[in-house]
Amino acid sequence: MGLDRHDPDASLAAIILAAGKGTRMRSDLPKVLHPIGARPMLHHVMGLAAGLAGGPRIVVVGAGAEAVSEAARAFDPAAALVVQEPQLGTGHAVQGAFEALGDFAGHVVVLYADTPLIPAGTLAELYAAARQHGAGVAVLGFEEPLPHAYGRLIVSRDEAGRQAGGERGAVLPLERIVEAKDCSPEEAAVELSNSGVMLFEAGFARAALPKLTNDNAKGEYYLTDLVALARAEGLGAVAIKTDADDVRGVNSRADLAVVEGIFQARRRSAALEGGVTLEDPQSTYFSADTDLGRDVTVGPHVYFGPGVRVGDGVRVRPFCHLEGVTVGRGSTVGPFARLRPGADLGEGVHVGNFVEIKNAVLGAGAKVNHLTYIGDADVGPRTNIGAGTITCNYDGFLKHRTMIGPDVFVGSNTALVAPVALGEGANIGAGSTITKDVPAGALSVTRAEQKTLAGWAKRFRARKQAEKDAKKKG
Ligand code: UD1
Ligand code: CA
Repeated sequence: MGLDRHDPDASLAAIILAAGKGTRMRSDLPKVLHPIGARPMLHHVMGLAAGLAGGPRIVVVGAGAEAVSEAARAFDPAAALVVQEPQLGTGHAVQGAFEALGDFAGHVVVLYADTPLIPAGTLAELYAAARQHGAGVAVLGFEEPLPHAYGRLIVSRDEAGRQAGGERGAVLPLERIVEAKDCSPEEAAVELSNSGVMLFEAGFARAALPKLTNDNAKGEYYLTDLVALARAEGLGAVAIKTDADDVRGVNSRADLAVVEGIFQARRRSAALEGGVTLEDPQSTYFSADTDLGRDVTVGPHVYFGPGVRVGDGVRVRPFCHLEGVTVGRGSTVGPFARLRPGADLGEGVHVGNFVEIKNAVLGAGAKVNHLTYIGDADVGPRTNIGAGTITCNYDGFLKHRTMIGPDVFVGSNTALVAPVALGEGANIGAGSTITKDVPAGALSVTRAEQKTLAGWAKRFRARKQAEKDAKKKG
């Protein structure tokens, strides 16, 4: 995903703002922990920061500080946490973060934890442009149709008095940023908007941040005022234009759905480019870490939850749900299979319809084709599990393991009551309930002996029909 294209640069620090309340989400979960591609937005942004910023990385927390801090520590133990309480604006948040930065002397990038789609390459371009133009401040801008509530990027005018425009990637001379609520009518007419992503020299910001005031429409300390402060000191400021989709922020559940949609579209394109066939791309759901090999074919309506790795040449047929699993090359899964965490399928494994596999290792060439539950188990290579087999792994208190060797044949409708082991090449008769270990090469069957009464059914039917006829007449 581009992260690996850039080495983290020790002279770049990152500040991630994650203190806001996210009131419009109407949620008990802090906004920045809501997932995109089954990964918290905060982690998307921390991943972006860790991929580029080899200097200090600071996360500013506030609302839901405990949960957000825990999530931040889990993702990047090297990141420092700063609590902002109360939250007096983006400038105030960065002031707090600077106390944790110490005397760091390079560049600093500010990212919002609710803006999870920024490509690493775009951020790298912003960093490169800031250095190339010797700018004190550089911001990522985008065009948004009016009216809108974003801060306006006011760029220098050319001799004809036109505002500089430009395509994606254009570097524009920036004069100041005006928040929507503080705009004059003329400023309000500007479509070029502030994404919130800002990069600046640490030394300049250290001196300028204490000069921010809250003398504005919102009564907040605006980080955006750094631009005018940089210009006042004769430092350059630039805006780099990017696509609106790269900098979509999340304020509501509707925004979350839009951002998820963009994320999914990007993952589908990346999969297709990587040599995966998606038979119905719109209905394939990807997680942020989904890893599909070459020549994988995915049928309609497949859900890849977190932690899925699928080897080359695998066929995932329609309506499968996978999470926390590895599928070896050349395997076939589904239709209608559920692979739960800890399912580890070797090469050329067949898992068929209405099969659930959890915390189980299936050796190469094993087959579990119909209506089966395999949980907490080892299944040897080439073993065939018949339809309707159940590993009874739970006794109501504890889970137990079922060990099945290589080349075993388990007949249909078998209950394997764990803990139990089936030796290499064993054969289990259909309909058995196996509670004791079966040695290698043995046959085990547990069923009542079959009785056959010749002609019984025919006589029975004749008698019953006669009874029925007599009743009708009478
Ligand atoms: C900000 C920008 C605006 C830009 C917009 C893009 C300022 C003054 N304005 O406005 O120019 O167009 O983002 O979305 O910067 N946060 C804190 N502590 C605070 C306040 C905010 O951590 O005290 C965090 C929030 O959690 C959020 C981010 O900073 O992640 C942005 O805050 P928000 O209040 O949404 O800023 P906007 O008013 O949208
Ligand atoms: Ca916002």
